[in-house]
Amino acid sequence: MKSNEEITRIRLKHFLATPNHYHKEPLQLVRAQGMYVYDEKGKRYLDCVGGIVCISAGHNHPRIKKKLMELLSEDQIQHTSVLYYSSPAAELAEMITAEAPKGLDRVAFTNSGSEANELAFMAARHATGETIIMNLRHSYHGGTAAALANCGHHTWRFRAQPVASTVSALEPNCYRCPFGKKPDSCSLECAKNVETTIQTATHGKIAAFIAEPVMGVGGFIAPPKDYFTEVARIVHNYGGKYISDEVQTGAGRGGGNFLMTKELEIDADEITMAKGFGNGAAIGAVLMKTEISESLRGKMYFNTFGGDPFQTAQSKVTMEIIRDEKLVENARAMGKVLMDGLKDLMKKHKLIGDVRGRGLMIGIELVKDRESKAYATDEAARLMDLCREKGVLIGKGGLFGNVMRIAPPLTINRDEISGLLKTLDESLDQLSH
Ligand SMILES: Cc1ncc(COP(=O)(O)O)c(C=O)c1O
Repeated sequence: MKSNEEITRIRLKHFLATPNHYHKEPLQLVRAQGMYVYDEKGKRYLDCVGGIVCISAGHNHPRIKKKLMELLSEDQIQHTSVLYYSSPAAELAEMITAEAPKGLDRVAFTNSGSEANELAFMAARHATGETIIMNLRHSYHGGTAAALANCGHHTWRFRAQPVASTVSALEPNCYRCPFGKKPDSCSLECAKNVETTIQTATHGKIAAFIAEPVMGVGGFIAPPKDYFTEVARIVHNYGGKYISDEVQTGAGRGGGNFLMTKELEIDADEITMAKGFGNGAAIGAVLMKTEISESLRGKMYFNTFGGDPFQTAQSKVTMEIIRDEKLVENARAMGKVLMDGLKDLMKKHKLIGDVRGRGLMIGIELVKDRESKAYATDEAARLMDLCREKGVLIGKGGLFGNVMRIAPPLTINRDEISGLLKTLDESLDQLSH
């Protein structure tokens, strides 16, 4: 095993020159089990971020290990494309479409969330004959060309990257409402903005609108349910397809359904998935309505590794574990315990400006003071480090990096949540002194 110093040397010499590790002092993770990950010295950490919101069933779940070992020991085919038949992809397709909202009965597998969104855009454009994709400011949909062109963060966008045929609507962020409204007295100006943007920044038709049920990289921004109903109506009215990006939110994290789109009754035409759906396997998926799939008839869509037997087998076991261990229900119950605990912490710690989210996808927005809501970016980085010192890993996000992101495996229990809350409380105390 290489030391951190050696890895630093190699990364500086051979990795891309992008800032790409969490924590001031890099953390090397070598082992994992259940809710915990371990560094090279054997120190244990409660993992409340799971890669980046990838671990749903817990690390190295015994059923996933057993399945993967079985596949290898029985010499089951490790790779074949969908040009040949294999059971795991077919079985997974049945399982995943059974969880989808009515009408979304077709699925294509990809290797990642970015690819899933690329395919969703292409399919919407093909089906409608329109080119414009509408996104939300503060959104993130992946690191490939079209996905990045629909990214609402300057930090992620590359210079001179073509962003043709995309347009952005204002973000539905109740804590920092771009219209200066309060959620209990607004008229969903953010949803109406989708319509005025179509009317003023396009020729009056769009191919698709893409949004997450909870905006992950944006800082776990959780719009109200009514927002989605109104936006889907507007999008359809202007001829567009509604793409619900569930790369982070899917796999039961919301605590109501396997898919948040279903939980929030979003009238989506396509749903994209990845991350928690494979519990860390390199897999993505696009669910779509029959008519969109039918419009592609006669075209080739091919993806060498999409639908690979090992990845689909791991996803299928992950879905079975989520069902058998009632992890959606656990996400709901534990999400509430965590949310209540954080609201209590908010009473004590002025640094917390907002606590929001759904199920086990909870954001804590740090502000320098509650009046100005000035972004507490440095404090967020320090809070992550202080929690790490105490053996707890949390993530961060938001355009200014001031939102702590808590998205643990869905297996988390009350004791672990108490430990997390205690760690946050102590670390916030340290930060204010
Ligand atoms: C909402 C969302 N969509 C798409 C992606 C891209 O997924 P991937 O990194 O697997 O390509 C991400 C990645 O973080 C994401 O958060």
